[in-house]
Amino acid sequence: MAYEYIIFNLEDNIALISFNRPNRLNALSGALLDEFSDSLDRIEDDENIRALILSGVGDKSFVAGADIKEISECNPLTARLLAEKGQRVISKLQSLSIPVIAAVNGYALGGGCEIVLACDFAYASETALLGFPEITLGIIPGFGGTQRLARLIGTGKAKEIIFTGNMISAAVAQEYGMINKVCSRESLLDEVKKTAKTIASKGKVSVRAAKEIINIGMNTDLDTGLALEANAFAICMASQDAREGTLAFLEKRKPVFKGGFRG
Ligand code: COA
Repeated sequence: MAYEYIIFNLEDNIALISFNRPNRLNALSGALLDEFSDSLDRIEDDENIRALILSGVGDKSFVAGADIKEISECNPLTARLLAEKGQRVISKLQSLSIPVIAAVNGYALGGGCEIVLACDFAYASETALLGFPEITLGIIPGFGGTQRLARLIGTGKAKEIIFTGNMISAAVAQEYGMINKVCSRESLLDEVKKTAKTIASKGKVSVRAAKEIINIGMNTDLDTGLALEANAFAICMASQDAREGTLAFLEKRKPVFKGGFRG
C-alpha cells in the first residue's frame, strides 16, 4: 500500500511514522487509519525493526483527534463501525511486539490522545496540549480513551478531563503519568530517538518479553502475572542474548546482542 496520510521512515532499525495531514492538524480520517494499520502490519512482519516512534508532521499538532467531518456524517451504525475500527487499530498498536514511543509535538486530542495512551510511553514538547474535547461535540471518546485513560491515571482525573473537555499541558500530563518526559520543541525528536536507540541496543527477545508481560500483567491478577513472568524469564534464558549478556558481564566487556535462540 502506498501512503499519502502517513510518512513511514526507517533509520537503521528504528521505524518512524509521522501522521501527515497537516492542513487538518493530522486528524485521523478513515484513510489515515487504514494506512496506519497497514504500516503496523509491515513493522510487525519485519524482524529487524526494534522500536517505533510516532509523531505528527508540522510544528502544531501530533494528532487533533478523529476527523470531525467524517464523524458528523455518521449514523449510529456507521459510528459504531468507526469506533470499532479506531479501537482495532489502536489495540494493534498497543500489542505491537516492539516498543512504541510517542513524540507528542503539539495537540494530542481525542484519537491523538488515545494513540498516546496505547504507546509504551511518550515524551512531549513543552507546548503540547493533551485532552479529550469530544464532550464539546456532544459525543464521547470512542477509540479506547474512556478505558485507557481511567486505567492509567485513575477515574477521578480521567472523568474531570473527559467531562470538561479541557486540554491539559504537557507538564500536567507528566504529573498524571501520561507523559514520561517534557522536552523543548527542538530537542523532542532527538530525545525520543536517543531512548529508542538505547532500547534497540538491548536483547531483542528480552525487550519483547518485558513488553508482553507488562501488558498482559496489567490486565490480570498478580499471581497470574507472576506465573507468566516466570515463564517468560525462562524463555529469555533460551536466547543467545541471555547467554551473551551474562557472559559479557562476567568477562567485563560490553555485550553484543544478535537476537535469536540457542540451537
Ligand atoms: N477533524 C477535522 N478537521 C480538523 C480537526 C479534526 N479533529 N482538527 C482540526 N481540524 C481542521 C480545522 O477544521 C481547520 O480546517 P480549515 O483550515 O479548513 O478551517 C484546520 O484543521 C486547522 O484547525 P484550526 O481549528 O483552524 O486551528 P486552531 O489553531 O484555531 O485550533 C484546535 C486548534 C486543535 C484547538 C482546533 O482545531 C480543534 O478544536 N480541533 C478539534 C479537536 C477535537 O475536537 N478533537 C476530537 C475529535 S473527536
